[in-house]
Amino acid sequence: ERESTVSITVVGASGDLAKKKIFPALFALYYEDCLPKHFTIFGYARSKMTDAELRTMVSRTLTCRIDKRENCNEKMEQFLKRCFYHSGQYDSEDNFAELDKKLREHEAGRLSNRLFYLSIPPNIFIEVVKSASNSASSKNGWTRVIVEKPFGRDSDSSAALTNGLKQYLEEDQIFRIDHYLGKELVENLSILRFSNLVFEPLWSRQYIRNVQLIFSEDFGTEGRGGYFDSYGIIRDIMQNHLLQILALFAMETPVSLDAEDIRNEKVKVLRSMRPLQLEDVVVGQYKSHTKGGVKYPGYTDDKTVPSGSLTPTFAAAALFIDNARWDGVPFLMKAGKALHTKRAEIRVQFRHVPGNLYKRTFGTDLDRATNELVIRVQPDEAIYLKINNKIPGLGMRLDRSNLNLLYSSRYSKEIPDAYERLLLDAIEGERRLFIRSDELDAAWELFTPLLKELEEKKIAPELYPYGSRGPVGAHYLAAKYNVRWGDLSASETA
Ligand code: BG6
Repeated sequence: ERESTVSITVVGASGDLAKKKIFPALFALYYEDCLPKHFTIFGYARSKMTDAELRTMVSRTLTCRIDKRENCNEKMEQFLKRCFYHSGQYDSEDNFAELDKKLREHEAGRLSNRLFYLSIPPNIFIEVVKSASNSASSKNGWTRVIVEKPFGRDSDSSAALTNGLKQYLEEDQIFRIDHYLGKELVENLSILRFSNLVFEPLWSRQYIRNVQLIFSEDFGTEGRGGYFDSYGIIRDIMQNHLLQILALFAMETPVSLDAEDIRNEKVKVLRSMRPLQLEDVVVGQYKSHTKGGVKYPGYTDDKTVPSGSLTPTFAAAALFIDNARWDGVPFLMKAGKALHTKRAEIRVQFRHVPGNLYKRTFGTDLDRATNELVIRVQPDEAIYLKINNKIPGLGMRLDRSNLNLLYSSRYSKEIPDAYERLLLDAIEGERRLFIRSDELDAAWELFTPLLKELEEKKIAPELYPYGSRGPVGAHYLAAKYNVRWGDLSASETA
């Protein structure tokens, strides 16, 4: 069999994403011996740079895994030798033809596979794809393109982008990243559900009272305001990251682990969802706050944000899946920037034990006595189940305890970054963790009417202080469905 080679071209090589995530992830894969024997990495961007300059830039972004420092510098040197740079315009077929020539030299007659990572603003996706596919696609192997959100800002613009890409690419060449799907605990959701007898039978309206999907960051937009202001937190986090988690959480059992089977189920559940209603959504925006003598800026203090912007930096929403399994169960989402903590988690609150014998031990606060399963995606990855337990001793006092699987105590290996898994999957042609176009359409259909209404009615966000727990509106929204946010309960914040 003819030997094959993979050429990875990072378009937009000097950008933030490339430096922070893509090059380090590629190096980590190389370090772990996960990259194919023959590979070449090319940076492509407009600025002039030599190979040596690119290597210096990349080398600054690389780190070694804590658990294996030996050989690291040597490995880095070897890795950097396989990195090259080509400067060119994004819409120039000639410049991409020059890249093609260089790629062919490196491929040296082997079977050529090519991966393009578009680490560039979406308004130039199509011109790059056009030039790359016309002038630099592989003649005898595969050509794949990785793109990352924003995929438009509503149904129409997203459809236009998809159509534009599909003029030059087949659907199976397009790898749409939602990096939350590359996170260890998100991938583990299916294992938890489908390979443990004790969870899946409880996974329905019969036993689950509500599900909470929570994302919070303890910093603001800090310089990214330009991008953020035209999207807002609903498009930045909810329509993609949290909705993807919801789909994996709530989907029916797929026929197999095949990417198409899994994505079919995700699309089904998304299409069973009720369009979001304005009265089921609360939006917020952080304002400046002084704490311990330090003044934290408000969102509109960011120089890159237009003054008077109504863009939400926080949102909470109640969503419903109108199918037999989930009828009536509120799925509450909450996402915000500049909050008191950095965390992403899934909380599953179970129903009361019918006729609970031990009711009295909990007084009137029955909520406290229900089981809750928490999947903490980050930081400090963990899965824990809150159970009631007798406090040892002669009396009869109950206590809430955690059955706790804390990853750092159970597993000694460091968890790979989401981008490592996703890049490896793209190289291997594994599409399970990438968003198919019908999935993307369904996700936009759910959020587009709400986003339009928020913007047309100029709904003013509720202001909350930087570093706080967010607007109280989120609390009322949950209360409307008899829900209490689990992350704000006394036992969690203690
Ligand atoms: C990105 C958002 O998709 O995800 C950012 O655009 C956000 O606003 C980031 O900060 C969070 O990712 P992570 O992996 O740091 O939780």
